[in-house]
Amino acid sequence: MEQKKAILTIDGKTIELPLIEGSEGERALDISKLRQETGLITFDPGYANTGSCKSEITFVDGENGILRYRGYPIEELAEHSSFIETAMLLIFGHLPSQTERAAFREMLSSQELLHEDLLHHFEGFPPYGQPMSILSAVINSFASYHPDLLDIQTEEEFRLAVAKIISKVRTISAFAYRKSLGRPFMYPDPNRSYCSNFLHMMFSVPYKEFEPTRAQIKALSLVLIVHADHEQNCSCSTVRMVGSSQANLFASIAAGICALWGRLHGGANAAVIEMLENISAGRMTVKDYLEKVKRREMRLMGFGHRVYKSFDPRAKILKKAAHKLLHDQDMTGDPLIEIAQELEAAALSDDFFIERKLYPNVDFYSGIILRTLGIPVNMFPVMFAIGRMPGWIAHWYEESRSGQKIHRPRQVYMGPPKRRYVPIEER
Ligand code: ACO
Repeated sequence: MEQKKAILTIDGKTIELPLIEGSEGERALDISKLRQETGLITFDPGYANTGSCKSEITFVDGENGILRYRGYPIEELAEHSSFIETAMLLIFGHLPSQTERAAFREMLSSQELLHEDLLHHFEGFPPYGQPMSILSAVINSFASYHPDLLDIQTEEEFRLAVAKIISKVRTISAFAYRKSLGRPFMYPDPNRSYCSNFLHMMFSVPYKEFEPTRAQIKALSLVLIVHADHEQNCSCSTVRMVGSSQANLFASIAAGICALWGRLHGGANAAVIEMLENISAGRMTVKDYLEKVKRREMRLMGFGHRVYKSFDPRAKILKKAAHKLLHDQDMTGDPLIEIAQELEAAALSDDFFIERKLYPNVDFYSGIILRTLGIPVNMFPVMFAIGRMPGWIAHWYEESRSGQKIHRPRQVYMGPPKRRYVPIEER
């Protein structure tokens, strides 16, 4: 079949730009030869129209509110899968057989402890240390503890590195929390499931084990599943960019954690709770808040998305899950969920939000679930990072095996033209 092309005429010269078509019909103009043939580059601040790679991992259709991991709809995974099975799907490309899943669970259990020397790192942080900075620093330090995994060549090495990260990230996160409270670290319990073990390390105290309910485990698993990947967002692109220089997996993931930290990305779930609490405490009404948003004095946190322009399917799943968890915990009168719904309804019927196609995103309801689970607000971005780990790893692996060049965008220089150096006494 003849490849489709677009024709570009510039300065009297005509060139052909090949059209690439993805497996779900998304079309892209291949401009990789544009500069070579015309001397021009494209200008796309924020990369909103730029496809940075070909990927087989996650499909998002923002116009129709569709999210699929390796072809499986997020709604089906949320209903039937576990976080670990979803992680395996994203990283290894297929739903695992029972044997594969059991073997991987075994690996996760064998990797859940931290090297005792690594525990000294926690002592070096002040008690008020930010959990995201602790998480990124400790993951980065893995490169020193596992020099054998700096240059991953075999599938076995990759599997081991994956198990180390996925398993230890929850230990590090829980330890960072315990450190901030001055409480003793609770070591992982290999007999517990992934989510139950995390909640145990967070909330058990010596001689008093925390036993999460099934509803709590399910809610946490769901939060992690819906966060597990979201194609080329800011943190994923960061991981791919760092990885494109052939930086090791641990360093690339640490960079992803830092990218996630910002309020416009993984920090938004905490900002949502802050906003709801301000309204709940009577410092502002829903109406006042929306007026301030429309005067551009602030943003409606947990609303809007670069890609989703009808609805975010993750927000739908988490809204339902938040109601279920509150019901199971006998907390149906929780004021924050009421305010969240009032805000959502008011925004969705307001022209400002309608015209800009702004809908609740994943962060609008995830904070309510995390808060109901007893997770403190400064740990919210960390929870996002635990969930996003499989996506980052899958993208790092895909990037490292793609043979793609180092990522290196260009720019349109707008600074001063050439000028002579002026000695300090003449300035
Ligand atoms: N509240 C108020 N106005 C908004 C919001 C919002 N939450 N989001 C976008 N807008 C407005 C902008 O002011 C802009 O209006 P204008 O055209 O009149 O200037 C228009 O909608 C387009 O907004 P952009 O900032 O250009 O959209 P972009 O795609 O760059 O931003 C983002 C997406 C960062 C998510 C934005 O919607 C936002 O800041 N939301 C709040 C923070 C948030 O919830 N982040 C979590 C994102 S999901 C995630 O990371 C998992």
